[in-house]
Amino acid sequence: MNSCPPFVPICNPPRVTVIGAGNVGSALAQRIIEKDLADVVLLDIVEGRPQGIALDLMEARSVEGHNCHIIGTNDYQDTANSNITVITAGLPRKPGMTRDDLMQTNGKIIIEATQRAIAHSPDSILILVTNPLDVMTYLAWKVSGWPHQRVMGMAGILDSARFQTFIAMELGISPSDVRAMVLGSHGDLMVPLPSYSTVNSIPIAELMDADTIHRLVERTRHGGAEVVGLLKTGGAYYAPASSVCQMIAAILRDESRLLPAASYLQGEYGLDDVFIGVPSRLGCAGVESIHELQLQPCELAALQHSANQVKEKVERAIALFNL
Ligand code: NAI
Ligand code: 2OP
Repeated sequence: MNSCPPFVPICNPPRVTVIGAGNVGSALAQRIIEKDLADVVLLDIVEGRPQGIALDLMEARSVEGHNCHIIGTNDYQDTANSNITVITAGLPRKPGMTRDDLMQTNGKIIIEATQRAIAHSPDSILILVTNPLDVMTYLAWKVSGWPHQRVMGMAGILDSARFQTFIAMELGISPSDVRAMVLGSHGDLMVPLPSYSTVNSIPIAELMDADTIHRLVERTRHGGAEVVGLLKTGGAYYAPASSVCQMIAAILRDESRLLPAASYLQGEYGLDDVFIGVPSRLGCAGVESIHELQLQPCELAALQHSANQVKEKVERAIALFNL
C-alpha cells in the first residue's frame, strides 16, 4: 500500500542542496547539473572550496551544453527551499578503518548538518551518504522529526552496481545486461542476493559455478575497501555519485523506480525501527513503499542479522549523542 505524505511541490528548475563539497559531493554536483536535473547549492565548512568548485563547474557549462546553475556556499541560508538535500559531509575511511570507526566524528557532523539544513528546507527530502550509512540515516531521521518516507540512505544502488560490474567482468559481457540485488547494511554484513541476480533474465547460477559466485559476492562485500586500499587517501566517489544521482532523478521526475535504498522498516522482513537497504519505490514523495522479496531462509536470516547489528550501533549512537 502507498502511504505517502502529500506531494512535495517541485519548483522549476528543482533545487538540490549537497552538503559536503568533498570527493563525493563535488562529483555528485557535477553529475546533477550535467544531466540537467536541478540547480545545485554546494555547501561545505571549508571557506572557498564549494565556491571554487561551483565556479569551475559553471565555467564548464558552455562547453558541456547544459543549463543548470550551481552556487558554492558556507551559509545554510543559501540552501533555502531545496527539494532534496543530500548529506555527504564527514570523514571518509583510511586504509584499515571500518565505516563504523567514523561513527563519533560523523555522527556529530550529521546531527548539526541535518538541523541546519531542515530549518531552511522544511519540505525537502533527505538523502544520507555519510558513513556509517545506516546509522547516520537513522540519526538524521530522528533529529529531523520528519515522516520516515522523506529520509533515506544511499548504499544499495552502489553495492548492487559493484556486484553487477563484477558479474559482467567475469563473464566478459556488457554491464547493461546485468541486474543484481544487494540488500542489508552498507558494510561487511551486506546481503548480496545471487538468487535475484540475472543476465538478461538468465539467473547467474546458470552462467557460473557456485565458487565463482561466492568469490564475486565476497568482492562486492569488500568493494568499498578495495577502492580505499588502492587510493590510500579517501574512498570511492564516482560510482557513489552516480548512485545518488539515480535516486535524485527518481524523486524529482517521480519515476516510481524500485531501487535498493536504506529505508525505514516497520515490520517488513520481520524488522522494526531500523533503516536498512531494501527494495524501495522512489518517487516524488520519497520512499513511497517497500517491496518484500520472497527470500530464502538463509537470506532472510542474513538480512535480519545485518539489521540487528545496525540497531545495536544506533542504540549506542543515540546514547552517545543524547537523542
Ligand atoms: P571528503 O573528505 O572528500 O569530503 C568530505 C567533505 O565534508 C569535506 O569537504 C569536508 O570539509 C566536509 N565537511 C566536514 N564537516 C562538515 C560540516 N560540519 N559541514 C559541512 N561540510 C563538512 O569525503 P568523501 O569521499 O566525499 O566522503 C564523504 C562521506 O561519504 C564519508 O563518510 C564516506 O565514507 C561516505 N561515503 C559513503 C558512500 C555510500 O555508499 N553511502 C560511498 C562513498 C562515500
Ligand atoms: C564505499 O562503499 C566508502 O562506503 C564507501 O565506497
